[in-house]
Amino acid sequence: MQSIFLDTLQGKKTSRPPVWFMRQAGRVLPSYMKLREKYSFQEMMANPKLAAQVTLLPIHDLGVDAAILFSDILVIPEAMGMDLTFTDKGPVFSNPLKNEIKPEMALQPDEKKLEYIYENIKEIIRTKPANTPLIGFCGSPLTTFCYMVEGISRNHTFPEAIAMLYKNKSTAIKILTAITDLSITYAQQQIKAGIDVFQLFETHAGLIPESLYKEIMLPQVKRIAKAVKSTGTPFIYMPKGIGFGLEWIKPKFADFVSIDWQTPIKKARKAVHKKVGLQGNLDPRLLLAPQAVIEKELEKYIPFGKKNKNWIFNLGHGLIPQIPFENVKFVVDWVKNTDWQR
Ligand code: CP3
Repeated sequence: MQSIFLDTLQGKKTSRPPVWFMRQAGRVLPSYMKLREKYSFQEMMANPKLAAQVTLLPIHDLGVDAAILFSDILVIPEAMGMDLTFTDKGPVFSNPLKNEIKPEMALQPDEKKLEYIYENIKEIIRTKPANTPLIGFCGSPLTTFCYMVEGISRNHTFPEAIAMLYKNKSTAIKILTAITDLSITYAQQQIKAGIDVFQLFETHAGLIPESLYKEIMLPQVKRIAKAVKSTGTPFIYMPKGIGFGLEWIKPKFADFVSIDWQTPIKKARKAVHKKVGLQGNLDPRLLLAPQAVIEKELEKYIPFGKKNKNWIFNLGHGLIPQIPFENVKFVVDWVKNTDWQR
């Protein structure tokens, strides 16, 4: 049996859309919470057996059509020498770049510091059920830069990081280039270790004007995309808040684009090149509502899913910890059991 997820990515006709969720390997799973009683997030990432086990929890517990590597986008700054801790309130860097007089000089990229992740990938591949595709990922340069400059995510607005793009553009570009260079090596090594698909997480595309994104960020993003696509690995781009920038996304750049919950999926379909597939875009907070309410919203996707075979069902952003596991499972079962009339 082939994978419905890979078939869809390759443009083949399938009886239903494949389904997986961003942040599926995390705190919505009771099995994950049980492991967290014993181990910290960073301990689990550093242990190949545990990292593989957590990666595969959503396959066994939810029945999703793809696994995503259990790791974090902030392993790139960590491999550039930044000291990172995951606290209950989120990730914290002890030495944010805003405190450095010459921030570009403070970074010491060391690709060897990422090698443990390739070992995790190999362990996942050794232990995963046959035909379960594995998604690898990294953060997009802007999103990674925001955390590196500010050190924490206060209200997710990152004013000092964004200000640096205007006040100290050449320094910002040097940092963004260093992030991109290491991300390219990282993506290539994930592919070598055996991932099937690569997703680039640009959570904060919407923080800057479209023109600035196009000028400074897009060239870096395209370098990562090119490095991935040149290996024949499907490339999914998730630019949350990109707005009209959806029009830039051509088949040469990305195979699929993940649509945020702000953008109506039908409008996204019109904006994005027709040969680029879509992923998305249910509002994760809907999953806090009763299942009858969820089902009503899900039904609105039927006409879209009937017409559009190059579509992967997902959320418009990641699952949040408060969401009940039963509601996540309800959505997976609904997608799998609905007659999509294809
Ligand atoms: O999607 C998956 O399940 C795979 C693993 C994954 C994690 N983080 C695990 C994680 C992925 C793909 C990410 C991406 C990530 N990490 C992004 C981009 C996507 C997005 O959701 O916006 C960002 C911005 C981060 C940075 C980050 N890591 C934050 C802000 C936090 C704290 C808030 C939160 O959502 O938990 C993390 C911690 C984190 N990353 C956890 C997990 C499972 C929680 C760790 C725990 O306490 O157990």
